[in-house]
Order: sequence, then C-alpha cells, then structure tokens
Amino acid sequence: MKITQRFDYDVVIMGAGLTGMSAAVKMAEDNPHLKVAIISKVHPVRSHSGAAQGGINAAVAREDSWQDHYYETLKGGWFLGDQDAVKVLCEEAPAAIYELDRWGASFNRDSAGRYAQRPFGGQRRNRTCYVQDITGHALLTTLFEQTIAKGIEIFWEWFVFDIISDGQDFYGFLAFDLKSGEIAFFRAGAGLVATGGAGRVFGQSSNALINTGDGMAMAWRAGVPLKDMEFFQIHPTGLFNGILITEGARGEGGYLVNNRGERFMERYAPQFMELAPRDLVARSIHTEIVEGRGFADGCVRLDLCHLGREKLTRKLPQILEITKQFAGVDAIKEAIPVRPTVHYSMGGIHVDTDCATPLNGLFAAGEAACVSVHGANRLGGNSLLETVVFGCQAAIAIAAAANCRKKVPEALLDTAMAGFCRIFAGSSSENAVELRSAMEQAMVHGLGIKRDQAGMEQGLAEISALRERFSGVRVANQKLVFNVELYRALELGCMLDLAYACALASCRRQESRGSHFHLDFPAMDNQHFLKHSLVTLKADGRVDLDYLDVRQVDTEPLSKITY
Ligand code: FUM
Repeated sequence: MKITQRFDYDVVIMGAGLTGMSAAVKMAEDNPHLKVAIISKVHPVRSHSGAAQGGINAAVAREDSWQDHYYETLKGGWFLGDQDAVKVLCEEAPAAIYELDRWGASFNRDSAGRYAQRPFGGQRRNRTCYVQDITGHALLTTLFEQTIAKGIEIFWEWFVFDIISDGQDFYGFLAFDLKSGEIAFFRAGAGLVATGGAGRVFGQSSNALINTGDGMAMAWRAGVPLKDMEFFQIHPTGLFNGILITEGARGEGGYLVNNRGERFMERYAPQFMELAPRDLVARSIHTEIVEGRGFADGCVRLDLCHLGREKLTRKLPQILEITKQFAGVDAIKEAIPVRPTVHYSMGGIHVDTDCATPLNGLFAAGEAACVSVHGANRLGGNSLLETVVFGCQAAIAIAAAANCRKKVPEALLDTAMAGFCRIFAGSSSENAVELRSAMEQAMVHGLGIKRDQAGMEQGLAEISALRERFSGVRVANQKLVFNVELYRALELGCMLDLAYACALASCRRQESRGSHFHLDFPAMDNQHFLKHSLVTLKADGRVDLDYLDVRQVDTEPLSKITY
C-alpha cells in the first residue's frame, strides 16, 4: 500500500462538525488568502453535533449577564474549569449567537422578537437559545451552507489514520478515501483536530457510532497529553437504548417520577429539582433505580403530559417522534421511560486558550479538546457554545501560525505507512468484535456512574490487557474501499487508548468531583485534587500521569457543591 496523492494546504481541519466548520468559515471570512480543507469520515451533516437537541447558552437577555453565566459554569464544573477559559466562553457567547444568526440560524423567538430562551440545568436564568428541539441539527445545516457559500473544500468520507509529526512539529495528516481507497498525505502549515468525543468507549451512549475519539487518540500518539480523561458525563435522560431525551424537556417543565409517583429530585436538589446539573440528576436517578424505586424496565419516568399537546408539538416535536418510534410511547399521553446514558467527554486533548497543543502547528477544539471550560461536569447548552466560540478562537490563532508549510521528512511518512500496513499483515490472532465488547463491559463496570477503587483498578487491568491483545488484530479484507472491518478496527485501537487514559487518571483521583463519583472518597478534595490530570505517551512507549494546577483568576472555589 502506498501514498498515491499529496495535497498542500495552509490549514487542514480533521472533523466537519460544528467546531470544524465554525473554524473553517471564520477563517474564510477573516483570512480568505488561507487555503483551508476539512477532512471528515462522514458527510458533514451527519456529524454528531446534529444530535444536540435542547440549545446553546448565552447571556443575551438584557436582565442576564455573562458574569452569572461564568459563575454558574464554574460551579457546575466543580471549579475544575480554568477561569480564564470559562471567561472567554461566557463573555463571547452573545457574539457567537449573533454570528450564528448572521450565518442563517433560525433561532426561536418570543412574541417581542427576542431570542426565546429556556431554562437548563444548574442555571438560575433562562439562558438557553434554541431551535425547537433540533438545535444542533439546525446549526449544523447552517454551517454547512456557509462552507458551500465560501467554497471551502471538504473531503468527506475520508478516514484520517495518522497525524504526522516528529514530536516537535506538526506536518500534516495521512488519510484514505473510504470510497476510492486512495491514500493521501495532506501537508498543512497548521492542523486542527475537531473530531468530537469518545462516548462510544462505553458502548451504549447518546453518542453517534462515529464518536470513537480518533482525533484525541492520534494526537496522544503524537505526544500530546490528554487532560482530565476521568470525566465522562452521564446525561440523566436517555431512552433504554441510549438515545437522548433532551434536558429541554425538563426545561419546558417535565417532571421525573419514580415507581411511587414521587418527584424524587426533591430529596436530592430541593431548590433546582429536575434542573439541577446533570451529574447530580443522573446519580439521583441511578440511586432511585438501584434502591428499587425504578420501574420493571429499569427506568424512571419523565412525565411531560401536563405540558399539553400544543406546547409539546411546538417546542419538542422531535422528542414526540423519537419516543413514538423508539419506545412506542405517545409522550402527549404517557410518561417516557428514561435512564442515565453516557453523553459527553469533558476531557480531551490538552490545549491552551488559543486551542494550541504543545505540538507546534497542531490545534484542537470542541469536544475533542480540553481547554478546559467544563471542568468536572458540563452544563447543558455549553457544548454547542464551545464549538462555535472555540472554533472561532482556534481560527484566529491558527491564522497567525499557518503560513509556514514545512517540508515533511519522508522517513516520517514511511514509518507511518509501515505502522498502517501492519494491520493487513498475516492472519488475526484476535477477534476485534470481542475486544470491543470486552472494552465496553470493562468501562461500564469499572468506570461507570459510581466508581470505587477496586472496580477502577480492575477496569484498568482489563483495558491494559485488551490493549496488548489489540496488537494481534489483523483485517482479512485487504482492500481499502468501504472496508468496514478496517475502519472499525482502527477506531477500536483509538478507543482502547482513550479507555486506558480514562482508567489510569480515574484510579489516581481519590476524591469525588462532578462526573467522577468515588464511593471510597465521597467528598471533593480541593487541597489535593483541584488539578487537571495529564496522561502522556512518551517517545519510549511509557505512559506518564501528571497534574497541572487549575488556573484561577477571580473566583474562590467552593469546598462543597449543593443545589
Ligand atoms: O439535553 C440536551 O439537549 C443536550 C444538550 C447538551 O448536551 O448540551
């Protein structure tokens, strides 16, 4: 197998979700001289950003302030967010909404023509702008239209399999075309990883099948640390099969009830009730279920019936459709069976507030990155916001770094190709499907919604063994055209690396904070753990776990979080 094409760009973006497309559009507007391309393993409008339902936060109302948004984001994240980064997120949020509006997003409006905003968890004001319950999808199509209008080149259904670097400098991406099988080197002055999260390491999740963390894993293999990988968000309300039922349903007034008909959130978050932050609501539902107050189907109920047909049809039409199609439930007349589902990676590629990684010329943004704005638990509605704000921040920083395309040492490409070809050599001693299922089980049992030291250590041991066994995986189909066996195997290799980083960082964090709820250490411990974890793959193959202080600017972290 050989590289058959070479492309030359100022900037290449890996991932065509909202982060990647926001960055590309912003660059096209501000720096039209830059030659920019996006590579995506799916068509852009099939990116996972389209699954975000409920909305995007911004203090656009006259009576709101970005400072309130800032404080509530810090508190929701258990003060693990870097305060300078959170400030950028919240201060820039209104401008992001106006930018999206200018690009053509059709936000819902109130009767006075202002942006309609619904309440979301952990926030005292209605701050979440929305397009019915299809906000992510609406924004994704808006951005895709903009990429077409600006003539941005998108290589869709191309699979990136390596980031080329010498440990100091970034040179480009190696990718193959899923449709033709061509292998290409994309040389670039700068690269942006915008490949989203890795929720699929847990198997069932609200994440699309494509959320296998490829960009995170490839950056890690190129020597870039992964930050705060112990923090995976569990969304409180998924259907039995993991499909998301938006927080917007509770924002519009939906109740959670147990098998006794109690609104049980009264016990766990008496002030915020169903609109407490996600980690707290998810753990409360889990407690109700394990203590026997769930229903026979292993779920509690989300009751929307009192909201009435007119409001539900107008505000939550997709939820009505999803519940009917996937659960056989008419949510106008019956409560919806829901249970927590894996939803979001708070951790990711270690970057600074310019989205720059320590590797010269390589940037990362959105869910693939950890900048860090979400800390230990993201507030609903801050994810879409991060894609646009930090997609645009990355665009600004990249423009300054992109004008030097370096000549790539050919030996780097030879080594990368030799690594790629190994998966075709000889017959497989391992079954990749079985390894994947074992990884998912190890993550669910060891690193789930409530964790203990023994379980996490067992999870780490199991994932370590699976990583070793993965080296025996080979693919029987030797072609590159639509070779599902191949790209599933490549994705599995990425997921195993990320599962390992998650398990390693989790074992060492002996406290409870946000989504990391440690049964042996139930309290938050600011004295020892108000720190980011950094997991790094060294050039000699060793893995290091270090810590980095959280950047504080003006807000003293609380020592206990209540709602
Ligand atoms: O519940 C939701 O609509 C999801 C939104 C988010 O994750 O921000």
